[in-house]
Amino acid sequence: MRLPEFRLERYFARYEFNVKHVLCASDCQSLTLGELLDLEPGARDEFERLWLGYTESPGSPALRREIARLYATIGPDEVLVHSGAQEAIFVFMHAALQPGDHVIVHSPCYQSLRDVAAALGCQVSLWTAHEETGWALDMDEFKRLLRENTRAVVINTPHNPTGWLMPRGAFEELARITAERGILLFSDEVYRGLEENPAERLPAACDLGPHAVSLGVLSKSYGLPGLRIGWVATRDRRLLERMAAVKDYTTICNSAPSEFLATLALRRGEALLARNRAILAANRARADAFFERHQDRFRWVRPAAGPIGFPRLLAGDVEEFCRRLVEVAGVLLLPGTVYDVATPHFRLGMGRDDFPQVMDRLEEFLGRR
Ligand SMILES: Cc1ncc(COP(=O)(O)O)c(C=O)c1O
Repeated sequence: MRLPEFRLERYFARYEFNVKHVLCASDCQSLTLGELLDLEPGARDEFERLWLGYTESPGSPALRREIARLYATIGPDEVLVHSGAQEAIFVFMHAALQPGDHVIVHSPCYQSLRDVAAALGCQVSLWTAHEETGWALDMDEFKRLLRENTRAVVINTPHNPTGWLMPRGAFEELARITAERGILLFSDEVYRGLEENPAERLPAACDLGPHAVSLGVLSKSYGLPGLRIGWVATRDRRLLERMAAVKDYTTICNSAPSEFLATLALRRGEALLARNRAILAANRARADAFFERHQDRFRWVRPAAGPIGFPRLLAGDVEEFCRRLVEVAGVLLLPGTVYDVATPHFRLGMGRDDFPQVMDRLEEFLGRR
């Protein structure tokens, strides 16, 4: 198996920890270890008494119980914990797909959602979102992409990088069509819980049928990427067994301190989500006002959910724009080219506390040009 370079991760590797301001993060504002432990009386003492032996491969029972509570139909034995969402994507693809299988992938996308399947020798069809329709996926196009050997459909909503949220009717139709045809529906839901209008939150795919797999993580909506705790939830027990057998070759089991902290974070999950939604609401309003003032330079399709949006630069080369911005103002944006998008879009991250100040830096930079 030959994996191509992960363009987004290589771009971050170059800049993320040596620039002053990251304006393209896909995670929300994080916490310190102390702040997390302070959320529950007694947590600090308990953390110090934690045993640092190997942990249970599927994830600790307490953590899987908390994860199962996020879903309507899932029990703790229908959850498999991983080191971040990234490991779960890798393990799912290895467990579920064979060379020659046809896979339909939402595009543009977080690269592993497409390229692990491709590297395994699957035939990958891109189900492409277009800016002209607000980055919506077209159900008729999906039906045209289906083949006899379609084994899996991979979607991501709320979407990275556009912030598009699939309407509930389309999501349910997708779940129905895939169920009827015996196709796996792999639903990357790592930004779930950050809908601008909570009434638009989609059901989790795993609650719509045993053919569906929901991907979740503490990195994004909860703002705890340093824990590296992600999971899949599905009622397909055979798939979970196959995934567990693959995980034996990747991480075997998870970090005990991370599992402890993740369990605590999920017990306080609603409070963490509410905090990040409040940060996002203020920052989205700020972004709207900014793009209103700079309509001559950018086109802004408002994201409906999640911490990121994908504005378009109306004139100039987007890689050059991002390079100059980081060199002159120390502000990091992510050019759409890392998503293999040919149009001059870039990713903007709105989930962090310092967003207003960093947007001021961007505006200053624009003023100087
Ligand atoms: C849509 C999507 N899926 C999965 C991941 C991987 O998440 P993690 O960093 O928790 O492994 C990311 C990270 O950016 C993402 O945006």
